[in-house]
Amino acid sequence: MASGSVAEASPLAGRRILLGITGSIAAYKAAVLCRLLKTAGAEVRVVMTPLAKQFITPLTMATLSKNPILVEFFNPENGAWNSHVSLGEWADCYLIAPATANTLAKMATGIADNLLLTTYLSARCPVVVAPAMDLDMYAHAATQQNLRTLAERGVRIVEPAEGELASGLTGKGRMAEPDAITAFVGELLTEKKKTLCGKRLIVTAGATIESIDPVRFISNHSSGKMGYAIAGELAARGAAVTLVSGRTALATPPGVERVDVLSADEMYDAAVRAFDEADGAVMCAAVADYTPAEVSATKIKKGDGELFIRLRRTRDIAAELGARKGGRLLVGFALETHDEEAHAESKLERKKFDFIVLNSLRDAGAGFRGDTNKVTFIDRAGHEELPLLSKREVAARIADRIERFFRQ
Ligand code: C5P
Repeated sequence: MASGSVAEASPLAGRRILLGITGSIAAYKAAVLCRLLKTAGAEVRVVMTPLAKQFITPLTMATLSKNPILVEFFNPENGAWNSHVSLGEWADCYLIAPATANTLAKMATGIADNLLLTTYLSARCPVVVAPAMDLDMYAHAATQQNLRTLAERGVRIVEPAEGELASGLTGKGRMAEPDAITAFVGELLTEKKKTLCGKRLIVTAGATIESIDPVRFISNHSSGKMGYAIAGELAARGAAVTLVSGRTALATPPGVERVDVLSADEMYDAAVRAFDEADGAVMCAAVADYTPAEVSATKIKKGDGELFIRLRRTRDIAAELGARKGGRLLVGFALETHDEEAHAESKLERKKFDFIVLNSLRDAGAGFRGDTNKVTFIDRAGHEELPLLSKREVAARIADRIERFFRQ
C-alpha cells in the first residue's frame, strides 16, 4: 500500500512523539501537526496546558492522536495518576508546539506548575520547542535570554517564521508551519550510525580575539557556525569531541565538551594540550595571524596624530599539530580571496593536513556568518568541488571523509 510504504520510509515511522500544546492561538495548527506526525507513522500522545484547552479542544486532539489527552496531574473522576515520569520515558521526542513565552520562561527557570512542565523537567528524550507569540514578546530580551538558556541545555528550537500575526502586526513570532516542524523532528530522530565511536577529536572554531588594551581588540568575522556544525556532527557519529572555541553566540552542540578561549595564544595552548590524547583535529577556527606586541594595561587615549600598533606573529596551531601528528588525522580550512587552489595546496603540505576544506569569498553563499557554504575538498589525490550546501550538510560531508580516513 502506497501510504504504508511512505510511513515505513519516514524517519518518524514507529517513533513516539509526545506533543505538548500551550495556550497560543497557534494551537489550532497543532491539529495539522498531529495529523502529519501520524501520517508519517509516529505514535502521538498529547499533553496540554489548562489554557491550551481554550484554543483547541481535547476532543479534537484525542480524535487525531487516537489517544486520550492529558492536562491534569490526575483524573478528577477516578483519581488515576498521570505520571509525568512515565510520559517522559515513553517519548522518543517531546515536541512542544506551540510554545508560548510563558511556557518557555517556566522551562528556563524550572517552574513545574502543570503536567506539561513537570513532564519537561523529567524527560530524558530530546526536547523540541516551536515558539509562537507576538513579535514584541518574541524579541523581548527576557524571551531571547530564555531561548538561549534552553538552547544551551540542549533544547532544540524550531525558529518561528516572519509574517502576519494574530495580533494584526507583522513580524517574527509566527509558529513554524506544521510540515517544517515535522521535518525538523524527523531529522532529529534520524539515527546517526556511531561510526566514530572510540575516536577522540578536537575541533577549533570561531574567531580569536587579540587585545589591544582593556577595551579594544582585533578579531575577524568568523561566526563559528561551520566549526560548531562539524563538532555536532562528529559527536552525533559517536566521537568524543573537544571543541576549542573562540567567542561565539552559539549553543554547544549536544554531547560536545567545549573549552572557551579568547586569544590565539590561549587557543594554541588548549589545542596542543588536548591533541596529546586525540586521534585527530579539525582546524576550523579563524585564528589571528598577528597580535599586538604589547597590550596596554590602560585604555589608550586618543591623540591628534596617527596611532601605530606594532603586531607580532602568533603561533600557528595547525602547523604545530602537523609537526606532532604522526599518523593521526589533521583537517584544515582555507578561506582565500584569490589563487584559491594554489594557496590551499601549499597549505596542505606546509601544515601536513590530510585534507583541506577550501572556501572562497568569491562564491556567493560561502564564508562568514551565513548558514550555507560552498567548499572544495583538496587532498593529495585531487579536488572535489561540492555544490552550495547548508553548513550542516557540509559538516556531514567532512565527517564522511573523516570516517574514510579512519577506515584506511
Ligand atoms: O595559513 P592560514 O591561516 O590560511 O591557514 C588556515 C588553517 O590553519 C585553518 O585550518 C586554521 O584553523 C589554521 N590556523 C591555525 N593557527 C593559526 C592560523 C591558522 O590553526 N595561527
